[in-house]
Amino acid sequence: MAQADLIIVNTCTVRAKAEQKAFSLLGRLARMKRDKKGLIIGVGGCVAQQEGEKILDRMPAVDLVFGTQAIDRLPHLIKQIEARRCRIVDVDMNADPRIPESLVESRDESEVSKFVTIMRGCDNHCTYCVVPFVRGREASRRPESILREIHSLVKTGVREITLLGQNVNSYGKNQNLCTFSELLSMINEVEGILRIRFTTSHPKDLGSDLIAAFRNLDKLCPHIHLPVQSGSNRVLKRMNRQYTREQYLDKVMKLRDTCPQIAITSDIIVGFPGESQADFEQTLQLIKTVEFDGLFAFQYSDRPQAPSVKLPDKLSEPIIRKRLQIVLELQEKFTKRKNEDLVGSTPLVLTDGLSKKQVSDQPVENGPDLQWTGRTSTNKIVNFYVDDPAIECENLTGKMVGVRVDKGFSHSLLGRVINVEPSAGGLKGVKNYAA
Ligand code: 5AD
Ligand code: SF4
Repeated sequence: MAQADLIIVNTCTVRAKAEQKAFSLLGRLARMKRDKKGLIIGVGGCVAQQEGEKILDRMPAVDLVFGTQAIDRLPHLIKQIEARRCRIVDVDMNADPRIPESLVESRDESEVSKFVTIMRGCDNHCTYCVVPFVRGREASRRPESILREIHSLVKTGVREITLLGQNVNSYGKNQNLCTFSELLSMINEVEGILRIRFTTSHPKDLGSDLIAAFRNLDKLCPHIHLPVQSGSNRVLKRMNRQYTREQYLDKVMKLRDTCPQIAITSDIIVGFPGESQADFEQTLQLIKTVEFDGLFAFQYSDRPQAPSVKLPDKLSEPIIRKRLQIVLELQEKFTKRKNEDLVGSTPLVLTDGLSKKQVSDQPVENGPDLQWTGRTSTNKIVNFYVDDPAIECENLTGKMVGVRVDKGFSHSLLGRVINVEPSAGGLKGVKNYAA
């Protein structure tokens, strides 16, 4: 970092903690700039959108503040600063509501798995959430442009894509584009792509066509992240989530009926204003009923623009912290048990590369001690070795391998390779959830 001429800090403002981290990083960068006067520091993302000019006042070292919809103008903004050594704020949200199609397509590095943005913004109004204010109205990319990007990613060696959007289920709505499940069907036909994932889905918009896609599309991974936020109808209403606990559970049941091996993960907010002990217990009960494969739990965080700031009956920090602890401990048991249940099975794993542990240990030679990492189609992290001398120890990055699971931990699985896909062409017609 010390050698950089330009540093861009991409920020998130969904919770207060993320925002605080961004400002403390900017403080460190400001100190760096004292020894390197020409350094250009830019701040992008949701904090930039929210705070705008205030960032320049608070942080004299910052040269550029660009909002969530100014990303396509970034090269131009940097050139202006270089030429004129001026300070710029660009947080214009209405200049062009469409997603900049050309910028998102220009990538050349080779990786196994890539994110592809299919839409941005959100038209929902969950009362705790700042996203609609900093990301603007929902806008979807054209399917041709998405497919073009995926074809070009395949040429660089990408074999798995994750489609990104705040609420992918409402892809294309109001724009006369195809539906999300139709988009998935088109992507399923792209040769070279082995796995398709997506995030995030809003439970209220999860329709029967998307549920059926888990049965009908062989490349669609059997995993859905379906944030529930609370198990109490009273709290869901105050959050303006527009579904009930019963409707959520019904969709979970339908997903499992359609695709029994599907992994379901979720988000929970604890300590929403007015959340009573009984409400909280409803959430615990829902977690026990669903038995999620994984859960992200957050303490409620007041966000200045979000409507819930004005709600009465805020809970105290110690109560919120305690509730978070209880949720995390409860979920840990399910995650661990589900991972332990996989011991002895042989899931297909798409190899991302050497495991972090291995990279930090700086291995020099290929060999049986190398630890690789990848994920199952259900999105579980698997670290594994190649201990069978009959299996050639080659570069496994990007390869689909069958891994015998020996151990299940809270956050990952450990195993060894049983077989490797025969050629670089991939395992044709492979069902992602084949054991
Ligand atoms: N406080 C706590 N958690 C929040 N999230 C969104 N806004 C807030 C907030 N104000 C969580 C939700 C969402 C995830 C991305 O972040 O659970 O699904
Ligand atoms: Fe925020 Fe709700 Fe939109 Fe998700 S659906 S981004 S929680 S407003």
